[in-house]
Amino acid sequence: MQPERDVDVLFSEATLAARVRELGAAIACDYSGKDLLLISVLKGSFVFTADLARAISVPLALEFLGLKSYGGEQSSTGVVQITSDLTRPIEGRDVLIVEDIVDTGLTMQYLQKNLATRNPRSLKLCTLLNKPARARVATTIDYLGFTIEDVFVVGYGLDWDERYRNLPYLGVVRQQGEV
Ligand code: PRP
Repeated sequence: MQPERDVDVLFSEATLAARVRELGAAIACDYSGKDLLLISVLKGSFVFTADLARAISVPLALEFLGLKSYGGEQSSTGVVQITSDLTRPIEGRDVLIVEDIVDTGLTMQYLQKNLATRNPRSLKLCTLLNKPARARVATTIDYLGFTIEDVFVVGYGLDWDERYRNLPYLGVVRQQGEV
């Protein structure tokens, strides 16, 4: 796919694929013989989850959790609503949250607390992206794809006002006036 005219490529398809393969191999190694359950946080992580799951060579199960965070167009406030909950209990399971990006960390803070009350055997986090410059709370990340600067990223599942999720690469939207 040709890059969109107003989006600069940050990580190409090939770069993403290589990193996802490495993450999948590390997760497969750590979860061998365990009861791995991936929880994909919608909507942003749907592409990452699909690729990551196929890069993990040990048996796993998948669940999806819909979250909506209230705030401005480009930031969250920490007020989070579960729009679509898990379909079954996670008690006793080895849960790995799959997220696209940790920005302020407020969404993860809410979700990790919420899931911990459901008594999983273990609870870890895999996020494709971390943006430490914007962190408002500390987040323990067990598997990380890339650390990024304070730029607004789109593509590979991530949106700007619901647009760009289908881009196969990760990009930065050029602001008006930039060439
Ligand atoms: C994004 C992203 C994370 C959250 C991170 O979701 O997928 O869930 O924001 O932000 P935080 O660390 O500042 O809390 P968004 O609310 O944009 O919804 P979406 O995944 O449906 O696009």
